[in-house]
Order: sequence, then structure tokens, then C-alpha cells
Amino acid sequence: MTRVFQVDPQHIDPEIMEQAAHSLQHGQLVAFPTETVYGIGANALDPAAVDRIYAAKKRPKGDPLIVHIADAAQLPMVVAEVPQIARRLIEQFWPGPLTLILPKNASIPNNVTSGMPAVAVRMPNHPIALDLIRRAGVPVAAPSANLFSRPSSTSGRHVLEDFIDSLDIVLDGGDASIGVESTVINLVAEPPIILRPGGLSLEALQAVIPEVQLKSTYAAEDEVVASPGMLLKHYSPNARLLLFTGTDASRVCEQMQLEAQQLETSGLRIGVLGTSAQREPLAADNRVFFELGAADDLEGISKSLYRGMRELDAQQVDVILVSAPLKEGLGLAIWDRLYRAAEGNIIRVD
Ligand code: TXA
Ligand code: MG
Repeated sequence: MTRVFQVDPQHIDPEIMEQAAHSLQHGQLVAFPTETVYGIGANALDPAAVDRIYAAKKRPKGDPLIVHIADAAQLPMVVAEVPQIARRLIEQFWPGPLTLILPKNASIPNNVTSGMPAVAVRMPNHPIALDLIRRAGVPVAAPSANLFSRPSSTSGRHVLEDFIDSLDIVLDGGDASIGVESTVINLVAEPPIILRPGGLSLEALQAVIPEVQLKSTYAAEDEVVASPGMLLKHYSPNARLLLFTGTDASRVCEQMQLEAQQLETSGLRIGVLGTSAQREPLAADNRVFFELGAADDLEGISKSLYRGMRELDAQQVDVILVSAPLKEGLGLAIWDRLYRAAEGNIIRVD
């Protein structure tokens, strides 16, 4: 049975945290909030505990995990070396939504990295996550707390939707503040390459390392890729998702309306992940409209994105219609998640 504890991030209950840390030390799984999304944690130095993560998530063994630390002093336990560029990024952005790929330390079991010589590491910016890792005294391997290829969890309730009884403890610390996963950057590559855009923007990284590149191609599931987790089918709601792109917002909206009406004529139930301005034209009696936020409020949209996908699934819509944000700031990560969720169903309105 999974035990659920409500934890106030501002007043962390030490007794609950001691229980959770104890569970981690004994090879069990503890879900915890981070500033990006919830994670399912296990002792990263315990290969059997790490195996339990893959089993609980039904995650393919070839998709490696991020190791979470609470203190830069833990870094030598995880990586073999800390190059100068990593030091600069750590100083600027940790704790925070940035994951670094670096050569792995021999003490990290092979199943954490899916047998690869490099390991992903980050220091989350969340008081509950940091407290848990400190008390456990070990680095904590933690993927996002969702079943494989489902939208990530941004609340304790989402974690329980996916994992009723396969975890030991869920620490429910409220809604995640960023709502999309960390930015993953490969520092073993030359120049450094962003494998997954995320909560830290490309622009912020470019300010520190102008040479950084963005991996621009998205692999189909059967291709061999540098970051094995970056499959195209990912972050998907159960419903089919149609992504509308185009620079003219009102024409995009008109096209969404036409498409929705056509699909409704054929008997399908439609959900819209919409901006505030799209509510008036697109909300309708027989449709489910989930408001993400104002089109220019990218923080608001990223925070509600996965909740929206999950709520539309819960309302059992057949098709979700959504328009793409600008690819700047957090918009790049939002665009990336929608693009993957759409699995190629892109409608270009030019
Ligand atoms: O914000 C986040 O990063 C959240 C929270 C819980 O920290 N975690 C998360 O983990 O999103 P996960 O497992 O859902 O995604 C990890 C990504 C995957 O795309 C994986 O392929 C990549 O990081 N990754 C992990 N280790 C890697 C490695 N050694 N080399 C290349 N890519 C790696
Ligand atoms: Mg994930």
C-alpha cells in the first residue's frame, strides 16, 4: 500500500521526512515534488531499488534516469569529473530546472544510465526534494512520476492516479511551480547540446554558454538516439492530440473551430486546451474547454499543461485541439511537449 503524506513546503514536518528518507535508504520508492514535476525516487546507489522504478513505471530499460542531489558536495559521488563549463552552469542555475549529462562515476549502477558511460544529474529547487535527499544521505534517482508515455505529474493527486499501490510513500507538497520537466544538456558533446528543452530557457543558457546547440530532430520510436528517452511518442494523453501551428492567431482559431465541428459531426467528443482568448470562440456546450492561461503567459501555460491533458482525459474526450505557443522562453519546452503528444498530427495554418 502506498502511504500518502501532505507536506507543507514552508513548514516541513521532520517526522514525515525521516520516514521517507528511511524508506529510500531501505530500497523503497518515494514520490516527491520538485519545482518542475513530481519524481519517483530511489537510492541511486542501489541497483535493485532502481529496478523497482522501471517496473513501477513500466518504463523500457533503455531509458536512463536523472540522479538528484541536494548539495554540490554530492557531485563527486555521481560524476567522474566536473569540467569548467559544468561549474559555470552549476553556479548560475543550481538548484534549478537544469540537468547536466556528465561522465559517470563508477559507483553509479549501470541500470541508472541504461549502460551508458554518462550520467544525468540535477539539483532540484524545491525544499521538500532537497530535505529528502539530504536526510537520505544518498543521491536519488528519479524519473517523472507518471506511467511510461503518459503526461507527467504536477500534483500529488496525479501521482496517485498512475500509481495506486506500487510506491511506498507519496509526499504531496502541492502543485509544481514550473510544470514542465528540466532542461537536459549534454556536456559530454562538443559543443554542448540540449537534448530536451525544459524549465530553463535556451536564452538563459545561451547567456552563459553561447555555443550551446539545440537538438532539433525528433526520433521515431525505432531510431537509435543520443538521449534514449527522447522518443517522439511521449507525454501523451489517451486522446488523440491535434497541434495547430501558425502566426495568425485568429486564423488558427478559425481553423480549430472548423476542425472541431467536423470531428463533432462524425460523433467524436472534443476537448480544447485553449488560451484565455480562445474560450469565447471555441468553448461550446458539447465540448470540454480547459483554459491554459493567457497566450503570452508562458509560465501559466507550462504550469497547467499536464493538468489540462490529464483533465481532458478524465473527461473522456476523443480528440484534443491545441494551438502551439511561440518557441521562445518556456514556449520552446511547451511546444516540444505538445509536438510529442501530437505524434505527428500537426495542422499548419499559414
Ligand atoms: O524535471 C525533471 O527532469 C524531472 C524531475 C523529477 O526531476 N525528471 C524527469 O525524468 O523528467 P525523466 O526520467 O522523466 O526524464 C529524464 C530524461 C529522459 O529523456 C532521459 O532519456 C534523459 O533525461 N537522460 C537521463 N539520463 C541520461 C543519460 N545518461 N544520457 C542521456 N540522456 C539521459
Ligand atoms: Mg518523464
